[in-house]
Amino acid sequence: MHGMTDPLTRWRAHADAGVLLDGFHALKHALRFGAEVPVAVTTDRAATLVLAEELAGDVRDALDALLTQVPAETYASLVPRPHPTGVAALAVRPSRTANLRTLARTPRTAPVVVLDNPRNLGNAGAVIRLAAGFGATGVVTTGTLDPWHPTVVRGGAGLHFATAVERLGVDELPTGPLFALDPEGMDIRGTELPDDAVLAFGSERSGLSAELRARADHLLALPMRPQVSSYNLATSVAMTLYHWSATGGAHGAP
Ligand SMILES: C[S@@+](CC[C@H](N)C(=O)[O-])C[C@H]1O[C@@H](n2cnc3c(N)ncnc32)[C@H](O)[C@@H]1O
Repeated sequence: MHGMTDPLTRWRAHADAGVLLDGFHALKHALRFGAEVPVAVTTDRAATLVLAEELAGDVRDALDALLTQVPAETYASLVPRPHPTGVAALAVRPSRTANLRTLARTPRTAPVVVLDNPRNLGNAGAVIRLAAGFGATGVVTTGTLDPWHPTVVRGGAGLHFATAVERLGVDELPTGPLFALDPEGMDIRGTELPDDAVLAFGSERSGLSAELRARADHLLALPMRPQVSSYNLATSVAMTLYHWSATGGAHGAP
C-alpha cells in the first residue's frame, strides 16, 4: 500500500505537520483509536511484530502493513532521541473542526477536562492519558501551552487520538456545568459529578485564573490535610475523574 515511495520520502512529506509517535506503545495506541498514520519505521520489523503479537493483537495486521525497516542510523536521524523499542511513526493531527464538533456535541456522556493555563508539558501529557483512560470527551487547555507539543504527545503515550485535545479561550469553553477544582472549594465528596460536567483545574504556579473562577458554577476541593498547600495538577485530575466514575452520574465511565 505504501510501496510506491520510500519511507524517508514519506517521512519528510509529513514531518512538519505530522504528530511524532515515539515508540511502539504510542503507535499502538494511536492506531487503536483511529489515527491516520501515513508512515511508520522500525529498526527491527520481526521483533516489532513479535511485540505486537504479545501486546497488541488487535493492531498486529495494521502494523504489519505499515512498518518499514530502516537502518538504526536512519531511525536515529528521524527522532530527537532513540526509543528503546526502535519504533517511530508520524500521524495526521485531527482537525480542529472535528475536535470542536466533538466538544460541542450534546448530550455529553463524559466530562470535558479543562487545564487553565497549564505550564508543564509532562503534566498536560499525563492528563491526556488519564482522560483517555476514563473515556473523557476531551481535554481543553487555555493559555499559551500547545497541547500537541511533541513533549505533551510523548507524555500522552499516543492517547491524544482517544479524546478531543484542543486549545480554547476561557470564553469558548464547551457548555455544561463548570466545576472548578480549588483547595478553597466545597469538599468534592459531597457532590456527584454529572456526565456533562466541565472540570477545570488551575495552573501549577498560580492556580485558577480570575477569568475561569468568575465563570465557575461550583468550586470543589479534594480532601487534603490543612498543612499541605496543594496537589500536583495531574494527580488532581486523576482524583476528580475517579470521583466522577465512582459517583452516580458516570454512565459513560469505562
Ligand atoms: C499545583 S495546584 C496549584 C497551586 C497554586 N500554587 C495555587 O495557588 O493554587 C494545580 C491545580 O490543581 C488543583 N488542585 C490541587 N490541589 C487541590 C485540592 N486540594 N483541591 C482542589 N483542587 C486542587 C487545582 O485546580 C489547582 O489549581
